[in-house]
Amino acid sequence: MKKRVTKAIFPVAGKGTRFLPATKSVPKEIMTLVDRPLIQYAIDEARAAGIKEFIFVTSRGKSALEDYFDHSPDLENTLRKAGKDDLLETLKSTNMDSGAIAYIRQHKALGLGHAVWCARRLIGNEPFAVILPDDVIAGQTPCLQQMVEAHAETGGCMVAAMEVQRDKTSSYGVLDGHGEMGSSFPVSGMVEKPNPQDAPSNLAVIGRYILTPDIMRNLSRIKTGSGGEIQLTDAIAAEIDEEREVFGYQFRGERFDCGSKAGFLQATVAFGLAREDLGAEFSNYLHDLMSTRRAAQ
Ligand code: G1P
Repeated sequence: MKKRVTKAIFPVAGKGTRFLPATKSVPKEIMTLVDRPLIQYAIDEARAAGIKEFIFVTSRGKSALEDYFDHSPDLENTLRKAGKDDLLETLKSTNMDSGAIAYIRQHKALGLGHAVWCARRLIGNEPFAVILPDDVIAGQTPCLQQMVEAHAETGGCMVAAMEVQRDKTSSYGVLDGHGEMGSSFPVSGMVEKPNPQDAPSNLAVIGRYILTPDIMRNLSRIKTGSGGEIQLTDAIAAEIDEEREVFGYQFRGERFDCGSKAGFLQATVAFGLAREDLGAEFSNYLHDLMSTRRAAQ
């Protein structure tokens, strides 16, 4: 029987320089879409997929993340006394069970592959998921859950995939393969950030992975790749070289690149419009704004 995926790695060591000055004191992952930090979306998606152990690969200046997931008895008492049960309920989703969450430091910014490798001892000999919180994916069935279901059939390694414009391939890992929405497909090659003319397709890797423990072994021996960094893409490509199975999974859902300002703004608008308590008012405001083309002064 295939082992269930119950562990997930969240690489959150990045400095978030694109969001300076905000990220001078606030980790990028704590920045909020409407009223929930980016990392909460990632955790909720992992939980929906059956993840029970959450491994954060952090760096200096990220302690706000640890506080965020800690219980907060004073605040909870104040809310309880004030009868604010709805807010108490909201807080519950941020509480993690004791021992369910682990923090590991990546001491040097040597790349995504290196960040994942830092968690090798906590992964042991089990399949594991990797979630990049910058990629926020809205969908009826959360993306990782779709993948876990598909992976139960295929085994091997699996990466989320999405079609992108040809001229954008140099921002992504790119797959050699052909997919269809809502299904998995075999991958015969993977390249990190290729120029459009060298890209094997326009199917980009999006930040959701289900990986075998072999990947940790590959990471300990691969050399630096694109951008002078240890690339997760290269460690997965090494599996293909050794004739082990790698699948792409073209998920159903909309992905927002919250690692960029434009993507973050788009996500804010989309998630704001989707909220029952805010959507109607916000939509009216946006219509008005667009028709008069006003901008904040
Ligand atoms: C990382 C991965 C890349 C993937 C991308 C998805 O790149 O290295 O393969 O396509 O995430 O968001 P980054 O955006 O960290 O440069």
